[in-house]
Amino acid sequence: MPSQLNRRDWLKSGLLASAGMTLGQTPTVIAAPFNNNGIFNVYAEREIELAHEAMLAAAPQIRARLSSNENPWGPSGAAIKAIAEHAPKAFLYAGPVTMELRKSIAEMHGVAPDQVLLGAGSSELLMASLLMSGAKGKVMMAETCYISGRDAREDGATMPTQKVALTKDYQYDLEAMASSVNADTAMIYVCNPNNPTGVMLPSEKLRSFCDAVSPKSMVLVDEAYIDYAPNPATDSMVENVRKGQNVLILRTLSKLHGFAGLRIGYALGQPSTLKELRKYCSGGFTVSTTSAAAAIASFKDKAFQEMVLKNTAESKKFLYDTLKSMDYTYLPSSANFVLFPIKVKGQVLLQKMMAEGVSVRSWFFDQQNWCRVSIGTMDEMKAFKEAFAKSVS
Ligand SMILES: Cc1ncc(COP(=O)(O)O)c(C=O)c1O
Repeated sequence: MPSQLNRRDWLKSGLLASAGMTLGQTPTVIAAPFNNNGIFNVYAEREIELAHEAMLAAAPQIRARLSSNENPWGPSGAAIKAIAEHAPKAFLYAGPVTMELRKSIAEMHGVAPDQVLLGAGSSELLMASLLMSGAKGKVMMAETCYISGRDAREDGATMPTQKVALTKDYQYDLEAMASSVNADTAMIYVCNPNNPTGVMLPSEKLRSFCDAVSPKSMVLVDEAYIDYAPNPATDSMVENVRKGQNVLILRTLSKLHGFAGLRIGYALGQPSTLKELRKYCSGGFTVSTTSAAAAIASFKDKAFQEMVLKNTAESKKFLYDTLKSMDYTYLPSSANFVLFPIKVKGQVLLQKMMAEGVSVRSWFFDQQNWCRVSIGTMDEMKAFKEAFAKSVS
């Protein structure tokens, strides 16, 4: 039986272990490891992905990697050029380049540089936010979202959470969430568009939610997929940050910019929040010179971004048409992946697809098995179509 730890023990064990301390010693550093034994197992997601990649590598022929919502059209040529140009200076720490990146992100969003915190991907910052909030109280989240299901450690310790079911049409139930906020709520996590559903909230609704609830609890809006939204600039909650609200936004370049392997993410928030968040992460030190320079170049390459959006839309339409022609429904997606209900167990489908050299992901929620397919090139979507038809026949 796993030991049952209460929240204080749970935090203490994680923090002490991370600092290499034993009980009785006074910890001087509040830090926690970003490893698989971490307090909140965000990296469970990565572990699942790695398992899929291993299975894919063992598949007879690798045709399409559609399991991690990567962007097969990235990174941009301008980003690759910037990497080559900065590589000879990579013996130097990245300070000046990361400062430039931070400044350009601040300008892009109309906030001050001290409202931007960089990370090697947004996972680092998400983990830091969970550690920071878990130390204070509970984290509210939707029953099905990017971080749901990862709130337990193998030793039985659990992250204190408040989970709220999605609505019947798989939207965030903002009314139920607002009325569930109480003195224990330290953070509300909203993933918009949501992963794995791809469903997006009407921006005005989410904005009003942030207006009403942020005086009571910090709202973290994970905007990993916001670049695929109809109007990213106004669909983002960055305006609420600009208004001085207790809203923290996480962004990643892993998606639209095709930086999943380059690792750049950032947080936008109030300076005091980011100052506190820095205690739980590297404070931007994990970002490399080459990736930071590539990010600066990629932000400027608007033609590349338009190309990615156009290709994504074409491949997504092909996928929708494929599913319709096979009598499958799907959740209309505002991201670079599509979730749809399947008639067999997820693992069964995954294995059959893997045998055909195509990787996808599966979920079980709402009494239903689901398959999530990332949007790939047209060739990859055709490979999906062929493999899926064989797998379900
Ligand atoms: C909703 C969401 N948030 C955060 C991340 C982490 O992204 P990264 O660490 O690559 O920036 C992902 C990755 O897929 C995601 O789907």
